[in-house]
Amino acid sequence: MKVCSGIDEIRNYIKEVNLTDIVLVPTMGALHEGHLSLVRLARSVSSNVCVSIFVNPTQFGPGEDFGAYPRTLKKDLDLLEQEGVALVFTPTPDIMYKNNQTLIQNQTLSSILCGVSRPIHFGGVLTVVAKLFNIIQPCWAVFGEKDYQQLKIIEKMVLDLNFPIKILPGPIIRETSGLAKSSRNSYLTDQQKDQASGIYKTLLLLKEEVAKGNLDQKAIESLFVDKLKKYPLLEVEYVKVLNNNLEEISTIEKGTRVFVAVRVGSTRLIDNLELL
Ligand code: PAJ
Repeated sequence: MKVCSGIDEIRNYIKEVNLTDIVLVPTMGALHEGHLSLVRLARSVSSNVCVSIFVNPTQFGPGEDFGAYPRTLKKDLDLLEQEGVALVFTPTPDIMYKNNQTLIQNQTLSSILCGVSRPIHFGGVLTVVAKLFNIIQPCWAVFGEKDYQQLKIIEKMVLDLNFPIKILPGPIIRETSGLAKSSRNSYLTDQQKDQASGIYKTLLLLKEEVAKGNLDQKAIESLFVDKLKKYPLLEVEYVKVLNNNLEEISTIEKGTRVFVAVRVGSTRLIDNLELL
């Protein structure tokens, strides 16, 4: 497994060893089973898997956890080596953003859901993902449905800016408690973690309610707020029922999903589930 941190260095290496059919898995490190499931999905389409590990400063707002974000590079590299990854890109902020003046923005989807409380977040994500696409030039890139809004915004960028890259979505990997795996789960105390598993339990209740025939978007959103009161440490930031293109609907139909952001102390957790 080759590890590169420079842009010219990784480009030269890809050229030198004639690495073609690359599948890219972008990450911010602190790798867990969710990330590794994406690496395995990547390996199923090509043996030339490249993983990037970069805690991207431009997607963190002022007062967010950029400084505190877990950094576990050595452990991450061991895990990736065991997964048979060919190439790892580990740039620094200086390498990625020297004199950068350009920002890629989605004018529509970046201001809903997570974009309300994180107005600069998706501009930072799109900019770094576009840079990674241009540096590595993969044929495929894998993103998790855990960050469903991010996945959709990246799919739209690929379409709008004509990147010759196929986006592969990976399903959400969860703890046995149902809590979606996240690098940020390490911020939680045992008690907070226990209550945070109530998020998925409540999403499942909504799915049952829909299966019983309640197809009213507003009623399902209200039910989430109501049922989450059972977990006093959890505070709802948003709950939104949308179709799978993140568009408003009033009656739940095939492909409709529920999207939530919940605060547990100072930690913000997101999750989503297909309702029908
Ligand atoms: P990060 O949070 O490290 O996530 C990297 C990838 O792993 C994303 O595609 C995310 O959706 C996926 N992922 C995280 N938890 C998951 C889980 N429990 N199940 C399945 N997939 C999961 O997302 C980012 O980094 C950054 O925004 C990035 C795209 C790298 C740009 O900086």
